Amino acid sequence: MTGVRFPAAVRLVEVGPRDGLQNETGFVPTAVKARWIGMLVDAGLREIEATSFVAPARVPQLADAEALMALLPVTPGVRYAALVPNEQGLERARHAGLETVAVFTAASESFTRHNIGCGIDESLARFVPVVRESHRRGLRVRAYVSTVIGCPYEGPVRPERVREVCARLLELSVDEISLGDTIGVGTPASTLALLRAVGDIVALNRLAVHFHDTYGTALANICTALDHGVTTVDCATGGLGGCPYAPGARGNVATEDVVYLLEGSGVRTGVDLPRLLEAVDFIAAVLGHAPRSRTAQVPRGRLWWPPGGTPSPTGD
Ligand code: HMG
Ligand code: MG
Repeated sequence: MTGVRFPAAVRLVEVGPRDGLQNETGFVPTAVKARWIGMLVDAGLREIEATSFVAPARVPQLADAEALMALLPVTPGVRYAALVPNEQGLERARHAGLETVAVFTAASESFTRHNIGCGIDESLARFVPVVRESHRRGLRVRAYVSTVIGCPYEGPVRPERVREVCARLLELSVDEISLGDTIGVGTPASTLALLRAVGDIVALNRLAVHFHDTYGTALANICTALDHGVTTVDCATGGLGGCPYAPGARGNVATEDVVYLLEGSGVRTGVDLPRLLEAVDFIAAVLGHAPRSRTAQVPRGRLWWPPGGTPSPTGD
């Protein structure tokens, strides 16, 4: 008995190619990104946020969005998402064949202005035609609310404020809301307060959690969210990630740590950990820095996989 009520299965949304690469200093060649995403698909990930259709001058690392989309493997059951801030972004995304449009705002005014150059009200007004047109074309719409626990410019954010922004997103009929702890300051207590405030207006099956891991609390926060009834978790291979407009933000919770935690607790993720680690090692070599997760630091021949099983005899 863990004491935590876990669901039978969890839907993982891999955001490494977008949230991860937007925070790297160098540009990863398009073909290399596509190869990495192919490895993530081979490892069993089924929802992958591949890139962003934002202003290329603001996030040059993802300026190749159209070219990347054209190279992505087409696999039954695999859905690609991308950030889309406005109608201009939707036009680009649509032509590129995107399936899930991710609009993004925040619960704090200052972060929104730094990130997308307008306030919360205006951001929501920009989403109206984006959501309408996306739905008209049969695309799914995910909406991020950033700074749900703390803002790098304003400090702590009240759960009621997040709830108000969520309510307005629901009026736009978005399909799903992902709650972003952008600077990774959440704890189980603040996560619970947040979910209690938001959970009675947003159905739990339409909520996702998106934890950056600045203080090492992301896995504990995820356990709290799952115990509360959430079943969708955002994560990034290798613990990559961070927002260029959120000073102090660290990487996302690492996909491999989440997979180990969940599969080791009897929760299905559909992900094969050894294959995922091949993707982790691949992108770490490309980026020239070691993965930040605990699981990636385990010597491959000593991997405790299947969880609780005998370490694999192969590898180093
Ligand atoms: P803007 O700079 O405020 O102003 O853009 P603009 O609308 O006047 O546009 C400026 C220029 O960008 C113009 O070009 C536009 O045409 C062009 P110019 O006339 O100078 O040649 N432009 C575009 N080009 C291509 N595609 C577009 C597009 N839109 C405008 N879609 C905008 C507003 C939102 C576009 C801009 O501020 C922007 O791109 N910001 C980047 C935001 C971003 O990507 N942030 C990081 C991701 S958010 C995140 O990480 C948080 C999350 O992970 C959750 C969490 O952790 O909390 C999701
Ligand atoms: Mg993020």
